[in-house]
Amino acid sequence: MTSADTGIKMTVVAVGPGDPDLLTLKGRQALAAADVVVGFKTVLDVVAGRTGNAEVRPMAYRDQEAVLDYAQAQAQQGKSCVVCVWGDLNVSAKELLNRVRRRAGTVALIPGVSSIQIACARAGIAMEESIFITLHQRWDRGSELGELIETLQQGRRNVILLPRPFDFMPPAIAANAIADGADPAHPVTVLQRLTLPDEQRWDGTLAQCAQLPDAFSDLSIMVFPRPAGEHN
Ligand SMILES: C[S@@+](CC[C@H](N)C(=O)[O-])C[C@H]1O[C@@H](n2cnc3c(N)ncnc32)[C@H](O)[C@@H]1O
Repeated sequence: MTSADTGIKMTVVAVGPGDPDLLTLKGRQALAAADVVVGFKTVLDVVAGRTGNAEVRPMAYRDQEAVLDYAQAQAQQGKSCVVCVWGDLNVSAKELLNRVRRRAGTVALIPGVSSIQIACARAGIAMEESIFITLHQRWDRGSELGELIETLQQGRRNVILLPRPFDFMPPAIAANAIADGADPAHPVTVLQRLTLPDEQRWDGTLAQCAQLPDAFSDLSIMVFPRPAGEHN
C-alpha cells in the first residue's frame, strides 16, 4: 500500500439496503463506467449485472487489505475503481471508508439508501426525533448501552440501534437493558432483512424480546419508539 497523496482517485458507491432497485442512478452510472469493482461478496450480489465490463473482485474480512491494494494499484494505472459498500456510506461504514481513504488522495462518495431510513419508514418514526446507536464496530459496550438506557428513560427520542452480529443480538441487548434499569414494558420492534424478499418484523416489549431465541439475521435493526403523547 502506498500513501494516499499520490493523485490516486477511487470512488465509493453505496448500494442500498439489499433491494437492487434501491441502488441510485448515480451509483449505477459509476458502476457501468468502472474498470474494477470491489466489495464484500454480499454487497457485490446487490449490483450483479450492473457492472458493465468491469473486473469484479469480491473480498472477505481476511483479504480485504489485499483486494483494496489491488484496486489501488489499478487506480494508480489510471483505471476507474469503485469500492461498493452496503446501505449508505455515512452509516456505520467508517472502517471501510478509512481503508479507501488511506489508499487514494481523492475519494468520490456516492451515497445510497440506508437501512436506517427504511427502518424509520417501516416503524413510522422521523429521523430528527430519533438517535442512532451502532454496536456494529469496535465499541464500548457500557457506554453505548448507557446511551440507550438514558434515551429510553428520557422518553424524548426514538432509538434506532444496530445490534452486533452475532455476539450481542436483540435478546441479549434487551436482557442487558432491563438489567441496567430500562422498563421491561418498553416497546421494541426488530426489523430483519429490510427490503429483501424475506423481510420480517417482530413487535413486543423488552421483556418479551429478552425471551426470544437467539436466531436473528445479521441484518437486524432494533427500534425503540419514544412514548406516544405530548411529543407527537
Ligand atoms: C456495518 S452496518 C452497515 C450499515 C449500512 N451502511 C446502512 O446504511 O444500512 C451493518 C448493519 O446494518 C443493519 N442493516 C443493514 N442492512 C439491513 C437490512 N436490509 N435489514 C436490517 N438491517 C440491516 C444491520 O444491523 C447490520 O448488521
